[in-house]
Amino acid sequence: MAGRITIGVPRERKDRERRIVLTPSSVSLVTAPGHRVLVEAGAGLGAGFDDDAYRAAGAEIVTEAAEVWAADIVVKVKEPITEEYHHFRSDLTVFSYLHLAAEPELTARLIAAGTAAFAFETLRDTTLPLLAPMSEIAGRAAAIIAAGQLSAAGDGSGTLVGGAAGVPPARAVIIGMGVAGTMAARGLRGLDAHVTGVDLDLGLLLERRLDGTLDATQASEPHALDALIADADVLIGAALVPGARAPRIVTAAQVARMRPGSVVLDLAIDQGGCIATARPTTLSEPTYVEHGVVHYCVTNVPGQFPRTASAALSAAVAPRLVALAGHVEAGTVHDPQRAFALPRVSEAANVVAGEMVHPAIAAAFPDLP
Ligand SMILES: NC(=O)c1ccc[n+]([C@@H]2O[C@H](COP(=O)([O-])OP(=O)(O)OC[C@H]3O[C@@H](n4cnc5c(N)ncnc54)[C@H](O)[C@@H]3O)[C@@H](O)[C@H]2O)c1
Repeated sequence: MAGRITIGVPRERKDRERRIVLTPSSVSLVTAPGHRVLVEAGAGLGAGFDDDAYRAAGAEIVTEAAEVWAADIVVKVKEPITEEYHHFRSDLTVFSYLHLAAEPELTARLIAAGTAAFAFETLRDTTLPLLAPMSEIAGRAAAIIAAGQLSAAGDGSGTLVGGAAGVPPARAVIIGMGVAGTMAARGLRGLDAHVTGVDLDLGLLLERRLDGTLDATQASEPHALDALIADADVLIGAALVPGARAPRIVTAAQVARMRPGSVVLDLAIDQGGCIATARPTTLSEPTYVEHGVVHYCVTNVPGQFPRTASAALSAAVAPRLVALAGHVEAGTVHDPQRAFALPRVSEAANVVAGEMVHPAIAAAFPDLP
């Protein structure tokens, strides 16, 4: 019978993560076909939505995380963390950001439990529609954060992005000119930085030149990056090969040649990072200094803008969630032969019935089943 799926929305537990995956207005969309939505008490508070707003939209508020995880589908923002792994079971479908190529323990636990794991970041139509909204926000945020860190970094820093009369502006290099890289470039150029975009895709670099997003472009060739990086005040990593571990593009030696007090911000850290000196940091402790260079490598940058980010994510997720619920009813999400190509959630399936069904995930873990 149509519309009898239970969907659980837990409170996010990652450090300072204040987003929620469904706003109340999206809950109305999901309950309309008859599905039940269970929201953990207080889950929306960080984004400005109280329990009454969810009740009014047709959700049921539950107090225990275990009740939420007992649902047919658990939909959430960030990948499950260690304390949530014990909720995995074989008739559960998880739909969230997963970044499995950088999460071997999570991948192994999903395989062992037989849970169907559908990732926002690999779901594909002509674009990556569930990654783009957060990349847009993370890119815009990167410009603001980099500008702040340039003045906060300590001795040898104190660089104002736009420079002054007679003083050149800061030089920014952005690796990967997709959604996040482009938004970071727009923000930094808005502050009058000099911005060079790097990508493998020369057609994309041409477009960004023609539309005025960049001051300069550089093909992504290792040696060509040497001088560019040594001169950079800000280096942003935003390269992605969907599903795969991030390509390692910048070496530790290249970072070591940067000026002390300059800033590295690796957004691709959620996929393992494209800058060799990058390691994951949290919103509580976002930076560390290596080779005299400030590193900001937070894996959930949009978590600090929960109102904007929840609204943007929820609008993109809700219609796909309704489609996924239909596939759960039909039983196809747990079928490793069919899950990868399901309509409206194509390529989101990462792990199904103990098998890695996404080729990029399987390539990242040749030793797992
Ligand atoms: N840290 C965070 O909080 C956060 C938030 C959102 C997105 N992200 C991450 O930001 C990254 C970028 O996401 P996006 O949506 O902009 O991706 P995208 O697919 O829009 O763009 C990625 C770009 O990288 C380029 N690329 C691939 N290999 C390259 C190489 N070797 N050299 C140079 N460029 C290369 C591609 O050609 C493409 O233009 C992803 O890892 C994503 O998960 C992080």
